[in-house]
Amino acid sequence: METGLSGKIALVTGSSKGIGLAIAKGLAAEGVRLVMAARGEARLREEATKLQAVAIPADLSRAEEIESLLRETTVRVGWPDIVIVNAGGPSPGAALAPDDSAWEAAAQLTLMSAIRLARACIPAMRERKWGRIVNVTSTSVLVPIPNLVLSNALRPAVTAFSKTLGAEVAADGITVNNVAPGATDTERLRELYPDPGALETVIAKIPAGRLASPAEVAAAVVFLCSVPAAMITGQTLVVDGGSTGRA
Ligand SMILES: NC(=O)c1ccc[n+]([C@@H]2O[C@H](COP(=O)([O-])OP(=O)(O)OC[C@H]3O[C@@H](n4cnc5c(N)ncnc54)[C@H](OP(=O)(O)O)[C@@H]3O)[C@@H](O)[C@H]2O)c1
Repeated sequence: METGLSGKIALVTGSSKGIGLAIAKGLAAEGVRLVMAARGEARLREEATKLQAVAIPADLSRAEEIESLLRETTVRVGWPDIVIVNAGGPSPGAALAPDDSAWEAAAQLTLMSAIRLARACIPAMRERKWGRIVNVTSTSVLVPIPNLVLSNALRPAVTAFSKTLGAEVAADGITVNNVAPGATDTERLRELYPDPGALETVIAKIPAGRLASPAEVAAAVVFLCSVPAAMITGQTLVVDGGSTGRA
């Protein structure tokens, strides 16, 4: 399939490793001009150099850093045609474990980053009558994951936000979608399940019999960004090897 993305500008956040880096690589392979963001500067610059991308360090949980990220992006490259909203996930915990400040921090990282990036980028997309926003969420939007209450509660809010926004901007040639990965082989997953036995238990529950690769999640994101995907908006594309379909 021709994606039609050559020459477009994309901002990919959380892209120094894992799923975000795979998305950056997937878009770069389509000829997209990239801006990559994450907090840790050294790794971000190293990966960005390999993809001839512009690296801009930023913490997505801070409003002022999102503002400066956009300012620098527009000065150095231009307004993004494509925005991929991705970062580390909220920390684990049982339903009543997080205190107010943990809920606040998770909301800033997971929900407010999606809202702030969209708010900043939609006006320029509207002017150009073209845009793609893809949020990386989680299968927690369909089935709560034990001991991950912050993700279970906040990811559905991102989903509802993007459905609402997607309908509002559809007539301007802009789509807003989510990709919901299941267990994907990244550093985050291995941090969540440091005990190999626990990871084997996770894998045993995946009908496909293995973890997804970051590149497989990225392929879904690149598809949603493509020109032929213009009529798909407000949707969640699940990449989980059948996990959420299992009774
Ligand atoms: N892996 C899975 O199995 C899985 C499953 C479902 C959903 N997800 C979700 O998919 C997303 C990506 O996961 P992943 O496994 O690829 O994670 P990862 O390997 O830990 O990578 C996370 C990326 O985001 C950056 N990041 C983290 N916090 C940030 C912040 N506050 N501001 C800006 N950048 C930040 C990290 O760099 P710095 O630390 O340097 O900032 C890194 O580049 C997460 O939201 C995760 O919850 C993952």
